[in-house]
Amino acid sequence: MQRILVLNPKGGSGKTTIATNLASYFAISGDRPVLQDNDPQASSSRWLKKRSPDQPPIHGIAGFDRNSRMTRAWQMRIPPEAAHVIVDTPAAVPAQDMPDMTKTADVIIVPVLPSDIDIHACSKCIADLLLIAKVRRDEYRIGVVANRVKRNTVIYQSLMRFLETLRIPVIATLRDSQNYVRGAELGVGVHEMKRHLVEQDLTDWQPMLAWLKAKEASVHPLQGAAALPVTA
Ligand SMILES: Nc1ncnc2c1ncn2[C@@H]1O[C@H](COP(=O)(O)OP(=O)(O)O)[C@@H](O)[C@H]1O
Ligand SMILES: [Mg+2]
Repeated sequence: MQRILVLNPKGGSGKTTIATNLASYFAISGDRPVLQDNDPQASSSRWLKKRSPDQPPIHGIAGFDRNSRMTRAWQMRIPPEAAHVIVDTPAAVPAQDMPDMTKTADVIIVPVLPSDIDIHACSKCIADLLLIAKVRRDEYRIGVVANRVKRNTVIYQSLMRFLETLRIPVIATLRDSQNYVRGAELGVGVHEMKRHLVEQDLTDWQPMLAWLKAKEASVHPLQGAAALPVTA
């Protein structure tokens, strides 16, 4: 099972958009993913509620809800068939909470917008991950997603230059697209929309999905081997 944490203490950077679109992608791939919403604003949970029963299922966990009548263990349970757990996180996560948040994550996706404020917030977030959460660069657990990008703009060029200096892989560049806004309203992801409307968005997602797959293969090196015939 792969645990994917989507994190950036800056609000509006695209955490929920990435978490919900990933959940949707794994759901249509037949994976029965888990979408764990740790944000009291509950945007991921609201998105999930909008899905209709005939859409591929996603198991939701309202991690933020401490007043649930369920026991915490029952509320937080991961169904045994889940291959991917995607964790959406709130804005304004204090740096001292990062070690706990990140310790069980196989991968950490940090979305960043092309704006001065967001670039600054992203560099603080990466510094906290490296220095406070002690995520090592050579674990290659962190991937940055440049989000809401308008190519051919000066600020986009500055964002990409900044990301190069971080020495953290940029695993996708998602364009600014109304498809994400529509998907948030309808409880779907771009992979579930009419293909001719989302062609460019699907292309944008490819490198992130490939990165996740490669990470999964390296974290669980025996997974593929299990399918090989046993020789005497
Ligand atoms: N690539 C994108 N193109 C257009 N709108 C986007 C994109 N990514 C996010 N948005 C919109 O920006 C707003 C904030 O995104 P959201 O994912 O909720 O951020 P966060 O969870 O980090 O606060 C939402 O209205 C969302 O639909
Ligand atoms: Mg959010």
